[in-house]
Amino acid sequence: MTNRDDVDKVRVAFEEAGQGQVFRYWEELDAAAQAQLLAQAQTIDLKEVQAMVAEHVLTENRESLRLDGLEPAPYISLPENGGDAALWESARELGAEALMAGRVAAFCVAGGQGTRLGYDGPKGTYPVTPVSGKSLFQVFAEKIARSSERFSTTIHWFILTSEINNEATIRSFRENDFFGLPEESVHFIVQGLVPAVDLEGKILLSEKGRIAMTPDGHGGSLRALVRGGAVERMRSLGVDCLSYFQVDNPLVQCIDPAFVGFHVQAGSDLSSKMVSKAYASEKVGHFCTQGGRNLVIEYSDMPAALQAEKEPDGQLRYRAGSVAIHIFDRDFIAQLGGDVAGAKLPFHRANKKIPFVNAAGEMTKPEEPNGVKFEMFVFDALPLAKNAVIIEAFRGDDFSPVKNAEGIDSPKTCAEDQRRMFGRWLQAAGADVPVDETDLPEAVFEISHRFAADQADFIKRWQTLSPKPVLENGSIIGTV
Ligand code: UD1
Repeated sequence: MTNRDDVDKVRVAFEEAGQGQVFRYWEELDAAAQAQLLAQAQTIDLKEVQAMVAEHVLTENRESLRLDGLEPAPYISLPENGGDAALWESARELGAEALMAGRVAAFCVAGGQGTRLGYDGPKGTYPVTPVSGKSLFQVFAEKIARSSERFSTTIHWFILTSEINNEATIRSFRENDFFGLPEESVHFIVQGLVPAVDLEGKILLSEKGRIAMTPDGHGGSLRALVRGGAVERMRSLGVDCLSYFQVDNPLVQCIDPAFVGFHVQAGSDLSSKMVSKAYASEKVGHFCTQGGRNLVIEYSDMPAALQAEKEPDGQLRYRAGSVAIHIFDRDFIAQLGGDVAGAKLPFHRANKKIPFVNAAGEMTKPEEPNGVKFEMFVFDALPLAKNAVIIEAFRGDDFSPVKNAEGIDSPKTCAEDQRRMFGRWLQAAGADVPVDETDLPEAVFEISHRFAADQADFIKRWQTLSPKPVLENGSIIGTV
């Protein structure tokens, strides 16, 4: 039940912030709807909304990219591309030590809506492996379970959900017995919501008694980790490195000892992986430097001419593509996700078609963008990070996202990339794998990640198999 004083206080605050329209239909609502609207309104930080509106909706020169002094960011190359093999080996050893000491946890951001894929359900439940159709969540769970076994520890896994998919996500883990992970090692963190506004900065209603709210972006994960108690939990577990990846990428090495090693060695707040862009207009962020600080510039913000610039040897100058794989230092998360002034991630605006209740009380489905959604991006933490490290990753072992229903970055391309990876691992282990001219194995088989988390792991474990499994259509290597 709503308390009169609470109602008055909140309504006055909204009036004073120029957002009184939120309560326009209050008198028409029944008690339950009033309670719901009040509860929702109480979660809104009006000062934050006011600042976002002032900066991104009511001013013209928003988010214009400064290009002065912009350079490609330096990175540590892979040994096969000229990097120092001994350096990589020592990083791998250091990372293995940190893992065995229990200092590393995994973190998957899965709060997005997955609209581009056209899949109705949490994206993590989408089936991706080529033979058994294991879901994205299962692939990550198996890699994490295998890494725990390999480094004789329990690797905890934090998963960012949003109100849109939290219940369905938890349900899927329960139905699948947490994919074999200890239930107490999996932690769901619900990200925050921010209100959507119209083009004048007024908060929109999605129903007469409901404010139109959207997730605050993967950058919101940092404050969600603080508010949801994850940072405290990491502290009590002795975890200080958080291995961050996106739910859409089943190739990712959820736990990569070399990456952990480089991060730990540098005393880095935030480490990142890059892959060379496949072509100039590939839709990934770009690692750049400006004024002595690293930053990521999104594909949509980077002028096409700059994206196409080449070096004398023909390589793209801004080739360092962000695959959204990072390691965060725990105390850096605490700082950015807490209330430290000057250490906040900025919001970005996106114009969207947002269904809303108009001033006449009618539900309206706009044909054109009628409103603004605000999101924070996690890579905006990069300029604030000390000792930031960027290492090169081999795309074939780390990146093939499922983003679109068809074409590039689709379930089909991702399944093929998994098959190429399995074929390569087998060939590296000495097996004979017939492949076509694109390195795609002729037979459709898969390797269970419960058996091997990466190529080095696979080579060792393959040696223990006797007799060797037959590589034919439908084989799943490493299941007992
Ligand atoms: C993203 C990156 C891009 C990177 C590319 C690599 C952005 C803006 N861009 O692009 O730099 O090169 O991936 O694949 O992120 N998410 C949440 N909560 C939210 C919004 C998103 O958890 O509120 C999660 C999604 O579940 C997903 C990830 O963040 O796992 C990426 O979101 P998406 O909007 O799909 O980013 P992309 O445009 O694909």
